[in-house]
Amino acid sequence: MSSASVRPAVSNHERVPTKKVRVPDLALMKERGQRIVMLTAYDATMARLFDRAGVDLLLVGDSLGNVILGLDTTIPVTLNAVIHHTRAVTQGACRALVVADMPFLTYQVSAEQAMQNAARLFQEGGAAAVKLEGGRPVVDTIRKLTEAGLPVMGHLGLTPQHAHRLGGMRQQARNDEAAQELILDALALEDAGAFALVLEAIPDSVAKEVTSRLKIPTIGIGAGPQCDGQVLVSYDVLGLFDEFVPSFAKQYAHLGEVVVSAAETFADEVRRGVFPASSAARRAQAHISVEK
Ligand code: KIV
Repeated sequence: MSSASVRPAVSNHERVPTKKVRVPDLALMKERGQRIVMLTAYDATMARLFDRAGVDLLLVGDSLGNVILGLDTTIPVTLNAVIHHTRAVTQGACRALVVADMPFLTYQVSAEQAMQNAARLFQEGGAAAVKLEGGRPVVDTIRKLTEAGLPVMGHLGLTPQHAHRLGGMRQQARNDEAAQELILDALALEDAGAFALVLEAIPDSVAKEVTSRLKIPTIGIGAGPQCDGQVLVSYDVLGLFDEFVPSFAKQYAHLGEVVVSAAETFADEVRRGVFPASSAARRAQAHISVEK
């Protein structure tokens, strides 16, 4: 039996609390040992479905460059594009906290520029928090944003906006020295006021060490099971994006195949003149359904 066909005895909808997730709840979840669940979302319909499933955080990731725009990297993703998708996601999400990614070079030039750009994600997109990549070089910016009341999530390890410098999408912090640097970055981000930290593609042992040394929660992606929460790109989880599936991702469904099959059946019925049925046939069908 595929994992997609396994149904919980009680639907998630009934088990999941309906209270809106707020930034301070995440530290409480870490304290209580409750794992945090985050998925990326890019539109209102998907946000509504993930919300219904009880996902705690929805990230409007700059991965939208890959899965929505078909680009090779996240580097060309613009602030306007993230605002556009954030607005859609915030329309669909009721309970989940919506985090918007700050795209490449929208926060590195100066703290003032970062503040203006982050403000647009809150005011125009409706985000409740922003995420930005990097360690000690972005600490001053994170401090200014959080002091101004804008919650910031950090992102360390494999940071896709630095893919050119890192030499591609490869695991980070692989030796002791790099691991120590990453731990120092994590402590600095916490000290600057970040409320949570994404740890991407680092050894499990390093993620475990960071998680135990921080009060704020860590959310792992390819960083092992010891993080306080997990995030994946939703298109990977749903089996919608098959150009490249990272080794750490898990497909919980194969919706790509479902979509192709539905479109093929529609095309076949249109070509054979089966769809649409005549209005008389549709009325008869509606009548039968009502009688049932
Ligand atoms: O953009 C994104 O989707 C991300 C996640 C992979 C953490 O940053």
